[in-house]
Amino acid sequence: MKYLAPFLSFAAAVSPAIACEGPCIVGVTQVWVSNYTARVEAVFNNVAQEIAQRFVPSHTGDVPSYLRPMFTAYDNNSYDGMEHAIFPSFFHGKCQRNGVDPPGCPNPDCPVVCGTPGSLVHFFPTLRYIAFNQTRSLLEKITKPGFGPYDEAENAIERAAAGSGARRTMHARAKAEQVRQGLRDIMKGVPGKLEQACGGDAADTPEGLPGCSWEREMKEYILTWP
Ligand SMILES: *[C@@H]1O[C@H](CO)[C@@H](O)[C@H](O)[C@H]1NC(C)=O
Ligand SMILES: *[C@@H]1O[C@H](CO)[C@@H](O)[C@H](O)[C@H]1NC(C)=O
Ligand SMILES: *[C@@H]1O[C@H](CO)[C@@H](O)[C@H](O)[C@H]1NC(C)=O
Repeated sequence: MKYLAPFLSFAAAVSPAIACEGPCIVGVTQVWVSNYTARVEAVFNNVAQEIAQRFVPSHTGDVPSYLRPMFTAYDNNSYDGMEHAIFPSFFHGKCQRNGVDPPGCPNPDCPVVCGTPGSLVHFFPTLRYIAFNQTRSLLEKITKPGFGPYDEAENAIERAAAGSGARRTMHARAKAEQVRQGLRDIMKGVPGKLEQACGGDAADTPEGLPGCSWEREMKEYILTWP
């Protein structure tokens, strides 16, 4: 990080408030969202296969489209929730203590919780855990019965499982109930599947979530912001 030093002192001279603001907030939020979106997609693909095998083997190719309303809800809500969870819920404010910047602050490695790239880098395990927790919470929300896009998916799968021309016989009703319950059990497992995809160890610890860390690349990226 030696090459940053001259740049930082120059930046400090022209702008006393170095912080992760505006485009830095957007950029950092976007890389976490985009990397997590790939994991969420993989989890949904996995769940689609399980649903197809158990309930609608003759509609295997259609299951991803049945699940799409939930994925759209994820896509539509992931950015705002992530931005809020990282900034300002955790990282915000100045790094100075009694008017003095502690060593490493504001950048490149700042041992004070504040709103700068150096603080994001120093508290990387916390940042990583916040991104995971936020994504898991959103998945919990969108895979719950009673949430519109979930109910849409459930109805589509029930219809497909009933087959065309199915009448509302006792047998058909019992089968629909079985599909509904099975589907709820599978979808309840989605947040846990995200944790597995992230390599487990879902905690704010140095070795947490090894599959959703991208530590070297993320830190490098974060420090591209002054
Ligand atoms: C997307 O989310 C916003 C609120 O964040 C909501 O108003 C809008 O209806 C949603 N659109 C879709 C297609 O889910
Ligand atoms: C996890 O995320 C949810 C939803 O954003 C939030 O309410 C909760 O406080 C978070 N938990 C932790 C431990 O950060
Ligand atoms: C996002 O994840 C990919 C691997 O899936 C990784 O190569 C990339 O560096 C990550 N992005 C950042 C900014 O770390």
